[in-house]
Amino acid sequence: MILKELKIKNFRNYKDVSINFSPKINIIYGDNAQGKTNLLESIFVLGITKSHRSFIDNNLIKKGEKKAYIKGIVEIDSINTKLEIIIENKNKQLKIDDKEMKKISDYISKMNIIIFYPEDLGLIKGSPLIRRKFVNLELSQLNSKYFITLSEYNHLLRIRNECLKKRKKNIYVDDAYFNIITNYMIDKANLLYNFRQKFINELNEVCTDIYKKLTNIDNFFIKYKPSIYIENKNKNINFIELIRKKYCDILQNEIKLGATLIGPHRDDIEFYIGEQNLKIYGSQGQQRLAVLTVKLAEIEIFKKYTKTEPILLLDDVFSELDDKKKNKVLQYINNNIQTIITTTDLKNIDEQILNEALILKIEDGNISYKKEV
Ligand SMILES: Nc1ncnc2c1ncn2[C@@H]1O[C@H](COP(=O)(O)OP(=O)(O)OP(=O)(O)O)[C@@H](O)[C@H]1O
Ligand SMILES: [Mg+2]
Repeated sequence: MILKELKIKNFRNYKDVSINFSPKINIIYGDNAQGKTNLLESIFVLGITKSHRSFIDNNLIKKGEKKAYIKGIVEIDSINTKLEIIIENKNKQLKIDDKEMKKISDYISKMNIIIFYPEDLGLIKGSPLIRRKFVNLELSQLNSKYFITLSEYNHLLRIRNECLKKRKKNIYVDDAYFNIITNYMIDKANLLYNFRQKFINELNEVCTDIYKKLTNIDNFFIKYKPSIYIENKNKNINFIELIRKKYCDILQNEIKLGATLIGPHRDDIEFYIGEQNLKIYGSQGQQRLAVLTVKLAEIEIFKKYTKTEPILLLDDVFSELDDKKKNKVLQYINNNIQTIITTTDLKNIDEQILNEALILKIEDGNISYKKEV
C-alpha cells in the first residue's frame, strides 16, 4: 500500500499544500514548530479518521478558518483509490472515490497506518493501562472476535463490580446470580488470555530478530504478565476450574474492596533484554528502540494477516539514537515499506539512504522539495 499523493488545505498550520510521495523512504526535515508532526497527523487522520494526538477535531482546522480538507491517492495492487476528509465544525465528511461514506467502518480499512510518535514511549515507561490499550487496539484490528469478547468481558466486569460494591455495603445480592456472572466472566477471561498469549508469542517470533538487526543484541523479548498467573500450563489442568478457585480464594478481599481484583483488566506486558527489565533498567535509547521494534514487528504481523503492507509514519524517532542506530533503522525499513519520517536535521544520515530517499523541507507550513527520487 502506497500513499502516492497528499493534498491538505487549512489543516493545522498548512494553508494549501500538495505532495507527491516516494513509494520508499520519505524524509521530512525542518526546525521545531514548522509543521512536521502536523503533516504526519494529516496522513493519520486520512487513514484512521481521527487524530492520534487530539480528541477535538476542531483543533485540526487552521485557526481563523472554517473547514479543513485532506485528500490522498492510495495505491493498492496497482489500483488507485481517492480518499477525502472534510472537517467542519462538529461535522466530518468521508469520501472514497467521490462517494460519501456514512459509516466510519466502511471507510477506515482503505488505508492502514502504523505510527511511531514520541508519546509512544509510554508503552514502556507508562502505566499498565497504556500497554493494555496497545494490546487491545492491535488485537481488535487483527481479529473482530477479540473485540467482541473484550466488550463482553468489560460488560460482565462492570456488573460484577456493582455486585461487589453492594456486598461491601451489606446490600443483598443473590448468590446464584453473582456466580453466573462470575462464571461467564471467567469464560471470557480465558478466551482473552489465549488471544493475548498467542499475540505476544507472534510478536516475539519477529521482535527478537528485529531488535538484533538494529542493535546486535540478540536476547530482546516481550513477557506477558497475566494477572491470573497459572503455572504449568499443560493439557491436564482445567484452566477454568483453576481460575474459579482463584476467585473463590480472594472473594472476601474483593468484597472488602468492592472490586474485581484479578482478570484481563489487570494484565500487563514487560520488555526485556535478557534478565533486564527495560522499564526499570533500560536507557532512553534502548526504550525507544524497543518500542520501535514492536512497531516494526506489527508490520510483519499485519502483512501475515492482511496480505498488504501498511504505511509507516515515524515522528521524531531519531532523537536519543546514536548515528549508527539511526542508519540501522533506516536500512531496516529501506525497500521494506513506504515510510514517512520526520527529523530536525539530516546530519549523519548515510549518503546512500539520502540518495535513495525523497527529501522535503518544511518551513512555517511551506514545503519545498530538496531532493526528488
Ligand atoms: N489549528 C492550528 N492552526 C494554526 N496553527 C496551528 C494549529 N495547530 C497547531 N498549529 C501550529 O503548528 C505549528 C507546528 O506544529 P508541529 O507540531 O507540526 O511542529 P513540528 O515541526 O513537529 O515541531 P517539533 O520539531 O517541535 O516537533 C506550531 O507552531 C503550532 O502552533
Ligand atoms: Mg513534532
